[in-house]
Amino acid sequence: MKRRYFIKLSAKSTITAWAGSSVLLHACHTEEDMIGKPNWIVEGSFDTPLIIPQKVSGITSLVAQMSSAKILNGNGSATMAYGNGTLGPTIEAQRGETLNIHLQNNLVDHTNIHWHGLVLPADMDGHPEDLTIPGGSFEYQLPIHQRAGTYWYHPHPHKATAQQVFMGMAGMFLVKDEEESALNLPTGEFEIPMIIQDKRFMGSSMVYMPSDEEIMTGYLGETILVNGIHAPFSSVETRWYRLRLLNGSTARVYQLGFSNQLPFYLIGTDGGLLEVPEKLKSIMLAPGERADVLINFKDLPVGSEIFLESYKFSEFNPQGRQGFKIMKFRIEKVSTDSFLLPLKLSTITKLSSSPATKVRMLDISKLVGGIGSHGSGSRHGINGMTFDNDYSAFSVEKGSTEIWEFDNLMGDEIHPMHIHGVQFQILKRTGGRNQVFAFERGWKDTVLIMPGEKVSVIMTFPSYVGKFVFHCHNLEHEDDGMMLNYTIV
Ligand code: C2O
Ligand code: CU
Ligand code: CU
Repeated sequence: MKRRYFIKLSAKSTITAWAGSSVLLHACHTEEDMIGKPNWIVEGSFDTPLIIPQKVSGITSLVAQMSSAKILNGNGSATMAYGNGTLGPTIEAQRGETLNIHLQNNLVDHTNIHWHGLVLPADMDGHPEDLTIPGGSFEYQLPIHQRAGTYWYHPHPHKATAQQVFMGMAGMFLVKDEEESALNLPTGEFEIPMIIQDKRFMGSSMVYMPSDEEIMTGYLGETILVNGIHAPFSSVETRWYRLRLLNGSTARVYQLGFSNQLPFYLIGTDGGLLEVPEKLKSIMLAPGERADVLINFKDLPVGSEIFLESYKFSEFNPQGRQGFKIMKFRIEKVSTDSFLLPLKLSTITKLSSSPATKVRMLDISKLVGGIGSHGSGSRHGINGMTFDNDYSAFSVEKGSTEIWEFDNLMGDEIHPMHIHGVQFQILKRTGGRNQVFAFERGWKDTVLIMPGEKVSVIMTFPSYVGKFVFHCHNLEHEDDGMMLNYTIV
């Protein structure tokens, strides 16, 4: 693939999207690349009921296949899914069990499954070069040793992850445990999993065809889906609900909040429950991140409607220049519940550094020339390198604690960074927004680093030795090479 880059050194080209970010080091984008072409969201009519993906547990078989779904304009679109239609079932597991999941690949392409957020043996993690051939199958054995939480799964074949996820391959993976059950959180119809994704359509067909510029900014769609439904609604009662929010978009960041500014309570992030609920009016969610939220509709009159929206959050970036509605909640019925918001949810042991803690600098701010077999042309990389399966950037010792610093101080793109094989805690963010937000507490596996920011995370590696990856979860960037191997020894 050939990329075009333009040099334009005008005063204006040094505008950056975020306060605190400094002058651009590389003037490799035009203003239009940087600011992006408007890609305005088309909201839809909010009259299609939300669909909740089917739940499965125990021995499960997932068939990766081409399928079709009616998403826009009544006509079908080709999709890729685990089963029929779009997306896949919600997998439910109990902490302590080992899950057997059979993947049957009926696609014409290689695929695999990565269990995003789960800490698993290297050969079960869905490494980008561990692939199942068309017509082949693979038995995943997943020992679940971690906290209850909202995890997810998706394909991870190098250079094809974005396309396969975009075309519909993804699902929720919920882990339950006793600590969580003791809280009596809303469940059954009062617990709503929501996979939020933006898609681009031509007519009624989803199309994934990023241009060179869109590999920079991310492939932003004009149509927002929840669980594969455009502009859905859900009928709710005047009581507590639990919303499990997942940003399953390839590149779009959302600033989620309600149309009437109704506050909600964040009870969990990527790696499960927080220590205490956080009362919020909005939360920023980057691709790959999850938010476990409680909301009480009790003060809303029957017949009223509120929307989950994404608020505008930036003037300059193609992301965030428009606020838009995502989904409607229609208050349909009075009901009472006895649920009381717990004061304490869980205990999180804070990881602390010692002078001996290894600190790794990871420069995510610069485009790099390809290496080795990758050919020429600038691409997204980390520390000047792009993904090469034969190369492991460094080794870490099992059981050791390290700090990784993702440095985007000089960068002008949005990078949600994700590490496989481990859950981390965010220590600090300098530059840009200059803080760790309440919605970034607890255990995380993905963290958003805006242009002009540097974020430090701390983690203790598990004893699963082998090769894992870390990468940008902007899937256009990831497929472009913004991913490296690291090895646990
Ligand atoms: Cu959800 Cu390696 O990614
Ligand atoms: Cu992952
Ligand atoms: Cu990125």
